[in-house]
Amino acid sequence: MATITGPLSGDAKNTVAEALQGALVDLIDLSLVAKQAHWNLIGPHFRPIHLQLDELTDLARTHMDAIAERAVAVGVNPDGRSTTVAKSTKLQQLESGWLEDGKVVATITDLLDGVSKRMHERVRATDEPDPVTQDLLIAVAQDIDKQHWMFQAQS
Ligand SMILES: [Fe+2]
Repeated sequence: MATITGPLSGDAKNTVAEALQGALVDLIDLSLVAKQAHWNLIGPHFRPIHLQLDELTDLARTHMDAIAERAVAVGVNPDGRSTTVAKSTKLQQLESGWLEDGKVVATITDLLDGVSKRMHERVRATDEPDPVTQDLLIAVAQDIDKQHWMFQAQS
């Protein structure tokens, strides 16, 4: 069996592994929440929010792949299993059934606020151990902060 070796070891590797796994879970669940809201949305502002939720899904999916592949490149196995995501997600879960547009905007804004804070913590944590991972996390944080702004602007 192949062993993947990378540039990190010891505490640095553990710190980076924790940051990447946390980011992966945030991004996977963000994509799931955004799709659930995209489908079940209802209300007078349906159309722009429906479309914006798909933008959010797309960026979460793009970043999750980059994050997971960075983990593998440093010799850490990403865990994107549904059971792992369900157990470890910090995202507020949506109710079942119809989701009223105003409430969706408020919920997604709150949720992005949390994701943003955690991404910024990960950016700080990876500064010393691995600037390459930090660079990826900065790109994620940039897009999350932009979405956070755009959802806030609609409320
Ligand atoms: Fe769709």
